[in-house]
Formats: sequence, C-alpha cells, structure tokens
Amino acid sequence: MTVDTSDSTAPASAATDLNGPVVLVAGARPNFMKVGPLQAELDRRGIHNVLVHTGQHYDPAMSDVFFDELGIRRPDHHLEVGSGSHAAQTARIMEAFEPVVIDEQPSWVVVPGDVNSTLAASLVAAKLGVRVAHLEAGLRSRDWDMPEEVNRVVTDRVSDLLLAPSFDAVDNLAAEGYPATAVALVGNIMADTLLTNLERARSRPILVENALTPGGYGLVTLHRPSNVDDPKTLAALLDVLGEIAQRLPLIWPVHPRVNSALAQIEVPSGLTLIEPVSYLDSIALQADAMVVLTDSGGVQEETTVLGVPCVTLRTTTERPITISHGTNQLVGTDPDAIRLAVHRALSGEIAGTRPDLWDGKTATRCVDAMLTYTAAQTPHH
Ligand code: UD1
Repeated sequence: MTVDTSDSTAPASAATDLNGPVVLVAGARPNFMKVGPLQAELDRRGIHNVLVHTGQHYDPAMSDVFFDELGIRRPDHHLEVGSGSHAAQTARIMEAFEPVVIDEQPSWVVVPGDVNSTLAASLVAAKLGVRVAHLEAGLRSRDWDMPEEVNRVVTDRVSDLLLAPSFDAVDNLAAEGYPATAVALVGNIMADTLLTNLERARSRPILVENALTPGGYGLVTLHRPSNVDDPKTLAALLDVLGEIAQRLPLIWPVHPRVNSALAQIEVPSGLTLIEPVSYLDSIALQADAMVVLTDSGGVQEETTVLGVPCVTLRTTTERPITISHGTNQLVGTDPDAIRLAVHRALSGEIAGTRPDLWDGKTATRCVDAMLTYTAAQTPHH
C-alpha cells in the first residue's frame, strides 16, 4: 500500500467508511507512549475510539504515570489481568477482551508492540472477524528464545494491516510473503511522543534530584529475563557495570521484575539504583546521558532519535536500523565487548542519523493507512 506521507494536515472529522469505533489496546509500559499519539490523531479527526487497558502492568509507576504525563484518556475498559505465566496472562487477557470486542463491534482493533497483551488482543479480534492493525509490525530478532519474537510473528500473521516502523521491517514482511497491500511504512510512533515531549522532559528536575550533570553520567536499564532472572548472570553484568561506574557514575531505574534477583546481589558503588521512572524522566535521563546501557527495545530507538550512544546488552536485536543508521552497538553480555563499546561511546566515536519517517508524523500516517485500507474494502468504492 502506498500511503501519501506528504499530507500531515488531514481534515478533522472527515467522512470515513468506518462502521464502528477504533479499539486501541494497551497493557504494558512500552505500549502507552505508542497509543497516545494515535488516540490524539483519531480524536483530532473526530473518529470514535475506545481505549482498552489489559492491566498487564498495574503498578502506578508502570502505568498510571504515563497516562497522567502524556494526557492519555483513562481507559474505557480496564481488564485488570495482572501478572502470571505467559499462558495464564495471555489466556486471561483473551477471556476478558472477547466480550469487550463483542460489545463494542469495532471497525478496527489496533495492537501496538510485542508484549503478551498485543498477542492476546490480536488473536481475539482475528477470531471474531474484526480487522486488526499491528502497530510496529515486521520487526524480527530471529531469536525464538525471546517471548516477544513469538508475539511479533504471530501478531503479524493474524493482522490485516501491518504498520511498519522502518524499511527493514517492510523487507522482513515482504520476505515472509505478506502482500504489499497489507503493509504500510508509517515510521516510528515513539518518535511522535518523544519529539512532542522533549522540551517538557528537559525541564524535569530528575538530574538535579540525583546529583547528575548533563553529559556526566551513564544510564542503565535492564529487565529482559535472559539478563535479570538468573542472579549469577545478573551479578556478572553488575561486575562490569561496577567497573564502568568507577569512571562514569551510572544510574539505573529498576524494573520491578529485577527486584528478586537483585536482593541476592551486592550492588557495586557508583551504580545508583532508583525506582522505575516516568516517561518524561526516562527521556530526560536518556537525553543527557554520555552513554545508555540497555536491553530494552524502545530505548534502542529513543537513543537513536536523541543521537545518544546506546550499548545493547543482548545478542540480537529486532531493531537493526538503530545500528545501521542510529547510535546503537549490539554487544551481548561479554565483559570485553561491553568495555570496548562503552569506550567507543565515551571517546565520541559513535554518531548516527535519524531514520526516515521517524519524524513525529507517524500517527497521521497510521490513520491514513487504516482509512485507505477500509475504503478499499468497502463495497461502494
Ligand atoms: C513485559 C514485556 C516486555 C517488555 C516489558 C516492559 C511480555 C512477554 N513482556 O515484560 O516485552 O519489554 O514488559 O516493561 O509481554 N511487575 C510488577 N508490577 C507491574 C508489572 C509487573 O511488579 O506493574 C512484576 C511482576 O513480578 C511480574 C513481572 O514484573 O510477574 C513481569 O511482568 P510481565 O508483564 O509478565 O513482564 P515484563 O518483564 O514486565
């Protein structure tokens, strides 16, 4: 599908072929900043939309704070599923989401990202015959040990419209046989949120509160099961981080998942652990860091938008464009590789450019693509 990317000022309240609300699904922390711009764009065009929160993430610091900061409306439906094994969590979301879809009779269900909520909601909608749009389609790590890879591949397979963030994602989908009519290159929706909120983020007191100076610290974020669930693996990572922290103070907002393993490990000096931070504080900490060490998907992208060197402590990435175009280095967990990557970052060797269409206009292109797709399927066209 060719989406006209030049039109970022589509008229509000345009007549559409939509025969029901657009249901937006969000469940986990990395979803909220992706649905925010889409909700705003649908509102701007007068398109009825409904927000469903699955409750996969539920702590105020993992959920509510994003709604407050980003001005996202409170969810119309809260499924309150909470934590559980993959099967239990996915099944609970499916059971709770099905009656919502039956009741709302949506024209579209939009699922962002690659978390269990994404997979569960897409399966429910597909089986009820409701159109599914996957926002962030086509990313592939090709690492089947990552639960997110299973979620991505299956979600793409049951989706009608694949909203791809970058050309490599479009290539992946083409190689898997998806027809061009099902794929729209829309860009990265997180860039919409980041560019809109960067100035607000920069005015936050988070650096001062933690005695950090711009360009005088590194940021750590680790939460992936392969890095943090086993205390031995985590302890080995903390050893290297402790070494780096002798040269550069490191700050680490800790995801709740990491707490049980951390309780068994001594944290090296120079590495400051803090509670999970809000969206604006996360962007503020990234924007002024000398280097960011992470295993997150979204942080690889945010650092590329910000032009801040990123060292990714994983062996694969579903976001290779952050390496080929952006500021990312993929190093795994080998201490020497981490040291070398940090050295390169601190010596100013890492520079990047912002990928095409990571320009703050992705939500507009998403809605355009959904309307074009709907119109093409509507009998009078
Ligand atoms: C989930 C996503 C992951 C994403 C991450 C971002 C899946 C498979 N994983 O991982 O892709 O990068 O979110 O944060 O969907 N917990 C709390 N409070 C909360 C939420 C979770 O304490 O509000 C704790 C619970 O102990 C829970 C554990 O974190 O069991 C894991 O939560 P879960 O949502 O299953 O996976 P994440 O590791 O957060």
